[in-house]
Amino acid sequence: MTTTLVTDIATLVTNDPEQGSGALGVRRDAAVVFDGPTVAWVGDASAAPAADRAHSVAGRTVLPGFVESHSHLVFDGDRAEEFAARMAGRPYAAGGIRTTIAATRAASDEVLSATVARLVHEYRRSGATTVEIKGGYGQSTADELRAVRIAGRFTEEVTLLAAHVPPPEYEGRAADYVDMVVREMIPACAPHARWIDVFCESGAFDAEQSRAVLEAGVAHGLIPRVHGNQLGRGPGVALAVELGAASVDHVTHVSAADVDALADSRTVATLLPGADFSTRSPYPDARALLDAGVTVALGADCNPGTSYTTSLPFCIAIAVRDLHMTPDEAVWAATAGGAAALQRDDIGVLRPGARADIAVIDAPSYIHLAYRPGVHLISDVFAQGVLQ
Ligand code: NIG
Ligand code: FE
Repeated sequence: MTTTLVTDIATLVTNDPEQGSGALGVRRDAAVVFDGPTVAWVGDASAAPAADRAHSVAGRTVLPGFVESHSHLVFDGDRAEEFAARMAGRPYAAGGIRTTIAATRAASDEVLSATVARLVHEYRRSGATTVEIKGGYGQSTADELRAVRIAGRFTEEVTLLAAHVPPPEYEGRAADYVDMVVREMIPACAPHARWIDVFCESGAFDAEQSRAVLEAGVAHGLIPRVHGNQLGRGPGVALAVELGAASVDHVTHVSAADVDALADSRTVATLLPGADFSTRSPYPDARALLDAGVTVALGADCNPGTSYTTSLPFCIAIAVRDLHMTPDEAVWAATAGGAAALQRDDIGVLRPGARADIAVIDAPSYIHLAYRPGVHLISDVFAQGVLQ
């Protein structure tokens, strides 16, 4: 296989404390060698072995490609008017999702695929080399089957968001919708997905309905993750911990008991500050979570309703400025944290055997991701050893 030497790295974030300083495992004057799609060697630039080809990053910063563990890319239409109305004072409600359900159902496979391709490309340009993709805007068996199939053309991290909001034909009949999901949608879609997700929130699905969906997913071989505690305190975190979910996402409104439960669990708290930004909501208390020892991931949550961004650097800037995370914590959360939320140990880290996924930042330090907000600093991206 072709070997590639990436060299002249002023600052290298490995996320492996055995390979450098701090939790980020930072090294100076480093180089990395890829063997095809895999990292083969990490070390000092001066000691780098020969390779078939060399790629100098000329004194810039290299980090593992961002790992986006939460996106909703299979949709049509946008909700710019809803966003503008919100900025003028109207509150966000889960029901806005139905606007996108109608547009998505009416769209062709080609249109939906083109949107996913466009947004995955945006993610790539912003440094994300892994993108989890959810459906959730079909909410019928045929439409969610279509969503997970389309998502599967772009990622191995496909999530069946079986219960996002009851669709119009089930208005006021969430329990009947959940019955249909359990009997029909999950058996049909499970072979095409890795994860099962539910929006456990007032206006969407309650704890018992959410539990029924997640348990049915588990019975079909899927691993649970939960949208919880986004719009208010509720049972999402407790349910996620109880069921051993890989992550609970949003976590904007949590009680002390929720924080303790997460700290005693292996469930990752995935913070999505782009959604809080675009719904003008309070931000999650990241410090309480981190200080209690909870594993925290950061995602962009690209979706047309609450967070129409594919920029993890933007989310890192918010996390540092407004969630009071340190730059180190925010960068870790957007790389290794995302990998933890996806239960992956081959991404979000640079060590021999890991995936050859890197983002090159046109800056002397990763701190610039937060220090230079809104500036496109990602210069080169390699995904599985291939320059994008
Ligand atoms: O992650 N919270 C629920 N789902 C999406 C928003 C969906 C929408 O408003 O279209 C989210 O924020
Ligand atoms: Fe979401």
